[in-house]
Amino acid sequence: MKKLAIIGCGGIGTYHMTHFLGFTDIIELVGFCDLIPERAECFAEETEKGKAFTDYRVMLDEIKPEIVFVCVPPTEHGQIEYDLIDRDIPFFVEKPLALDLDIARDIRDKIKAKGLITASGFQCRYSNLVEPSMKFMDENEVIYIDGTRMGGIPEVPWWNKRSTSGGQIVEQTIHQFDIIRYLYGEPDTVFTFGTKDFIRDIEGFDTESLSTTVVKFKKGALAAISTGCYCQSGSCFDSKIVFSTKDKRAELKILDTFKIIEEKPSAREDSDGFVVKGDGALSSGEKGETIYSQKGDAGILCDRTFIEAVISGDGSKIRSPYDDALRSVEFTLACNESIDTGLPVKIKGE
Ligand SMILES: NC(=O)c1ccc[n+]([C@@H]2O[C@H](COP(=O)([O-])OP(=O)(O)OC[C@H]3O[C@@H](n4cnc5c(N)ncnc54)[C@H](O)[C@@H]3O)[C@@H](O)[C@H]2O)c1
Repeated sequence: MKKLAIIGCGGIGTYHMTHFLGFTDIIELVGFCDLIPERAECFAEETEKGKAFTDYRVMLDEIKPEIVFVCVPPTEHGQIEYDLIDRDIPFFVEKPLALDLDIARDIRDKIKAKGLITASGFQCRYSNLVEPSMKFMDENEVIYIDGTRMGGIPEVPWWNKRSTSGGQIVEQTIHQFDIIRYLYGEPDTVFTFGTKDFIRDIEGFDTESLSTTVVKFKKGALAAISTGCYCQSGSCFDSKIVFSTKDKRAELKILDTFKIIEEKPSAREDSDGFVVKGDGALSSGEKGETIYSQKGDAGILCDRTFIEAVISGDGSKIRSPYDDALRSVEFTLACNESIDTGLPVKIKGE
């Protein structure tokens, strides 16, 4: 049993909290901190022992948690992590880790020096779609990656300014950039165009409403990743990543489906031309299509894997520790730099 505390009881804090309420066999929920007292109090009311705080340092020193989830907005990172490292507390930090790369790299180095177990909020890496996707990558040479993520604007006050959110690529579409890295490989250079033209009715909105990034990967493939937050109707939403090879394509809709499209059916074909396999994950498909579907909430496995790693002291099953997550932040911040300079940016990965 480990004592767990949360810093930041807003949207994503609530998401993690719903998981923690089912982890009574491995954690005790002891503390909740938010600058807005009612948010922390609301979390505390859901537990037997949990106490609400507005100052995380007071919480850390009073209740001495053994695991902390950091669920604050992108600009709030830095001192919180330093205080956790000073107290030797393993922590899970929400993406995008930080907007300042110098601070994030310094945190990474201090985590390494202490040997602390960490994880980040890239729950898509824990989806059951990852295994067939990895298999596809192992068995095929990917040549081109076509990614799209079109949606709307999250209703949090800090989102509309790039200085406080990082902009859509860094704050939101980082999930797509991260899963491409995880499944395919590391980027070498990005070249991004962005436009602020299409959102005119929100005062102070100063981030790109649409961008397209061309990526050259170290292994050779090229990608075009377009991302927009201009949609006002669900019918305009789109989210998919298509991996193309010489003889087939695979379409990943993260946390939804993974579909392999090829000429020959890869599974038993019945008389109606549908393919069905009995492993549950594979549903059905038209001739030549193999479809895997998302099962459950990948975030449960993501959170539990981290907590179990802290309990056992073995972090090897964590799919997105801080140092790896930082590479996705570097990838996406390079896109911002390219927008700002109008030039291709080589990913340094210091
Ligand atoms: N992994 C995911 O899929 C996912 C989904 C949504 C959000 N997020 C990430 O989670 C982070 C938070 O997003 P959100 O939607 O929960 O935002 P939010 O605004 O709903 O919640 C953040 C909370 O943190 C609190 N806070 C800010 N500074 C604090 C401090 N110093 N001490 C204590 N509390 C503090 C705020 O008062 C607020 O209640 C962002 O970085 C976002 O990118 C991740």
